[in-house]
Amino acid sequence: MLDQPIKTLMDEHRLIENVLGSLETFALGVTDGLAVERELVAGYARFFREFADACHHGKEEDILFARMCERGFAREAGPIAVMLFEHDQGRARVAALHSVGAGEGPVQAGERAALVGSAREFVPLLRAHILKEDRILYPMALRVLLPDEVAAMQEQFEVFDRKLAADGSIDALHATADKLIAAFAPDPERMAAAAAQGGCGVR
Ligand SMILES: [Fe+2]
Repeated sequence: MLDQPIKTLMDEHRLIENVLGSLETFALGVTDGLAVERELVAGYARFFREFADACHHGKEEDILFARMCERGFAREAGPIAVMLFEHDQGRARVAALHSVGAGEGPVQAGERAALVGSAREFVPLLRAHILKEDRILYPMALRVLLPDEVAAMQEQFEVFDRKLAADGSIDALHATADKLIAAFAPDPERMAAAAAQGGCGVR
């Protein structure tokens, strides 16, 4: 049985992977000529900024990584530095999605290209990142943290989520995720193949 705080993070990974799969399906559609609605792109940007980054990466960076650093891991080198670097790389890709979502008027050809280009980079980046955390970083954390530290982390996660959710935002983000997944369903075969290769099917 997984320790609860790690299970919490892994459950968040599963939701993030599904929205990544949805973004992949959407981006493949755009490559094939699908019309782009800014509101939909804004939904992806909002989910990745506010859930994947603020809520999920926030818990990792402020709580899990901080505790691992107290146990001797460096922030500037090694696995935590790599995870932090990849969080930053993801933010840069999501910024491109955000600017298309926040734009006005008809979506221009350059914006379609930017959208597909950022999805093509972001989807495999975050998938591979999630695999590294699930398979390497989290097991490493469980090896170095003491059981009472792990237990305390779950309480910290709950406090963290309550602060973020004071305005109901986490529920709203889950609703956004459901809407995106329903509109553009992840392709399970493509997701499995991409996960096996650490890649992505966006052309
Ligand atoms: Fe993560």
